[in-house]
Amino acid sequence: MNMTAISLRSALQCLPDNAQEPIVDLHFSTQLLEALGFQPEEIHPQYATGSKMVVDKAARKTIGNDIFLHTKSNPYLLVELKGRDINLSEGSAQYHKTVNQLKGYLLDSNCKSAQWGIITNSCHIQLFRKHGKVVYPATKCLSLDLDNIDEIVADIRRKIETPTKALTIAVYNNKGGVGKATTAVNLAAILTFLGKKVLAVDFDPNQQDLTSSLKLAVSKGNVYKALSDRDIELLNTVCPYSFPLKSGNAELRFDVLPADEEMASLTDDSLLKQFKRNRLYQKLNTARQKYDYILIDSPPNWRHISQLAVYAADVVLIPTKHNNLFSLENAATVIKRFIPEIQAQKANGSPIPLPIFFNGEKITQPQLLVAQQEINNIIKAAKQEKIDLLPYFYPRHTSAKDLHIHQVPSYANIASAAFSRVPAVYRDRSAHEYYKDLAKEYFLQ
Ligand SMILES: Nc1ncnc2c1ncn2[C@@H]1O[C@H](COP(=O)(O)OP(=O)(O)OP(=O)(O)O)[C@@H](O)[C@H]1O
Ligand SMILES: [Mg+2]
Repeated sequence: MNMTAISLRSALQCLPDNAQEPIVDLHFSTQLLEALGFQPEEIHPQYATGSKMVVDKAARKTIGNDIFLHTKSNPYLLVELKGRDINLSEGSAQYHKTVNQLKGYLLDSNCKSAQWGIITNSCHIQLFRKHGKVVYPATKCLSLDLDNIDEIVADIRRKIETPTKALTIAVYNNKGGVGKATTAVNLAAILTFLGKKVLAVDFDPNQQDLTSSLKLAVSKGNVYKALSDRDIELLNTVCPYSFPLKSGNAELRFDVLPADEEMASLTDDSLLKQFKRNRLYQKLNTARQKYDYILIDSPPNWRHISQLAVYAADVVLIPTKHNNLFSLENAATVIKRFIPEIQAQKANGSPIPLPIFFNGEKITQPQLLVAQQEINNIIKAAKQEKIDLLPYFYPRHTSAKDLHIHQVPSYANIASAAFSRVPAVYRDRSAHEYYKDLAKEYFLQ
């Protein structure tokens, strides 16, 4: 055991049971940040995050002569401290409030560079990752004691010292025909256009829509083999999709893991026997260090393949249709049941649902009112089960009772793109703008 570990542990040991925030700050937070590898001049207390908000601690390693305490620029980690009088156990009202507070700081104007956030009151601790606009858990909310604190903090340190590059997004709704494949392919294409390195995964072997919409060959067992055999690198089975640009030899290019024919012929039972739920997640290990975004298209059911896809993801993007009650109810089920089921099996608190969006239907004002009525009923019903769906249907509601739901409108050129085998965003200016808006709404800082 090294010196910092001893001093963090003894700091915890010496804290009074009723320590309020100033005491936790004084006798715990510095030791915590030192155990996470930061020197005193790399830690800034009361850091102004931008819009008049101040986070308790910000930290960043010295880069050459650029000492964080002096230049106050480009924080890497933010820490929101609470006293032991604040209950930070997962699910408590104060927990939710604190997580939202941390998100606000991480997304504030002076914190664009921040990649990590921690909430702690010295009894509980949780690490969050920020990727672009998305903040998602990187650990569960863990209860700290003298026996586990060194190990937990060492694990957090490992994570922040070796961040994964990619955000992995499962596009999923167990309702069929809501635009999962279309969303996955056009988001992959627009993110590529915007300079990101992207892998699109066709994990719907029965329909193979993503693969065929790009006119790529379906895998005849190679992807299945790579998933089955621990010694075969999954990335060796990806195919590039390239779209030539008019100017010179330039092209837009992203990688695709094609749908596998052989997987389509297997029953759910035999898939279940062959693949543990974490198989795709594990197999994407190398990809997570190579790409900026991994997008996974999944089947319209909650069978094993969909479960592998959702398990592999950091976040789940849920397309719905405003005029299809089932798509809205299914979205609620995904958020209330399916995602928590997977979270319970993963150690890091992911995946989390992103707010729903309406895909591919024109909406008139009266129709919107009907959809809102349906959504209100769904939210009310969930409340009875003590589940708050509001942030997943109306993400901006907290700020100004804003009933905003993002929309990708119905647009013929989006539908016809599948026949021309080119993503709509590369063929059509309006489609380009719709998906750029979608990427900005959810992902890009
Ligand atoms: N914004 C849109 N405008 C017009 N057509 C769209 C739009 N989004 C999707 N579509 C069309 O709707 C149909 C269903 O879309 P898609 O295949 O992406 O849905 P899915 O959820 O993957 O379906 P499934 O559940 O069968 O896998 C396709 O014909 C597609 O071209
Ligand atoms: Mg599909």
